[in-house]
Amino acid sequence: MASGSPPDATVASGAPAGYEISVCTGEGARYRALAGDVSAGLRSVPKELPPKLFYDDEGCRLFGAITRLDEYYLTRREHEILRRVAPEIVALSGAGTLVELGSGFSDKTRLLLDAMAAAGTLEGFVPFDVNETALRAAAAAAAEAYPGAATHGVVGEFGADLRSIPRVDRRLVALLGGTIGNFSGPERRKFLAEIAGLSSVGETFLLGADLVKDRSRLLAAYDDAAGVTAAFNRNILRVINRRLDADFEPLRFTHVATYDDDTQWIEMWLRSEGAQEVHVRRLDLRVSFDDGEAMRTEISAKFRPHQISDELAAAGFAVLGQWLDGAGDFSLTLARRADRSPP
Ligand code: AVJ
Repeated sequence: MASGSPPDATVASGAPAGYEISVCTGEGARYRALAGDVSAGLRSVPKELPPKLFYDDEGCRLFGAITRLDEYYLTRREHEILRRVAPEIVALSGAGTLVELGSGFSDKTRLLLDAMAAAGTLEGFVPFDVNETALRAAAAAAAEAYPGAATHGVVGEFGADLRSIPRVDRRLVALLGGTIGNFSGPERRKFLAEIAGLSSVGETFLLGADLVKDRSRLLAAYDDAAGVTAAFNRNILRVINRRLDADFEPLRFTHVATYDDDTQWIEMWLRSEGAQEVHVRRLDLRVSFDDGEAMRTEISAKFRPHQISDELAAAGFAVLGQWLDGAGDFSLTLARRADRSPP
């Protein structure tokens, strides 16, 4: 069990020797949270679903396929930066344990863990993800690759479960891949402040953020020619069908991606083809969609480099460095938790 976490919030479950897994929320509480989110989202105007629902096993597989698309530059660009500067980041950070929020299958994490191992500073790895299958795979792979490090995976959600992250010394918390883009401005302020709050003074935070660029490239990244992103988007309906015994017909919804210059974010929508009624049996809810009505499933905010630094500073971090890929498409920013006392 994670030290410092409330006894009822973390259930340590059996795992092969070499790593530990904590599951923050029991199945019942997870189900109630899902039911509440979906119920509120389907009643709001416009209708909206939270993007964490994308990531069942099939959603994780589809997201993996997205990261390999020509149009989806984010993952490749972030890799490019990490290949170049992971040793510098590790040296500046001085961390012994890497905590990766939203780790998924943790491919890119390898570059950071390798740099820590090469520097002789690697003590531990804490992948944190909403999908248990991906989390276990990431933890097993890390335990095998870095047998000298303590691997402790945490299955949880950003909203409620950050406090279950083990409180070991000298952590580098990483939020990579552009995941921060799923938060609106006010949500980001709250989330970054929470991350600052769970960090001790001197601990570091590495943030991967996608940058504002030509809108045609942004739109192509979220509406690829092969239709993988469309399948990923519709998969959220299959998740709701399965978990809440609903009867969405995914193929009667069209994938739409838009980019708004003012908010600087991509929005993904599912647009109803024809008027239709959906029955969500476990919520005892009938939802009607007008012809052409769009339901929002995700925002993916894009940033300017100085904006990232400003938001980190406002949350209580001092920026140590910022790196872009050669094309200036994507950014990594490393910051240190500043002293609580005002300057
Ligand atoms: C996992 C949130 C970083 O916003 O680019 C990819 C999710 N959605 N294609 C992103 C996503 C559609 C992705 N993040």
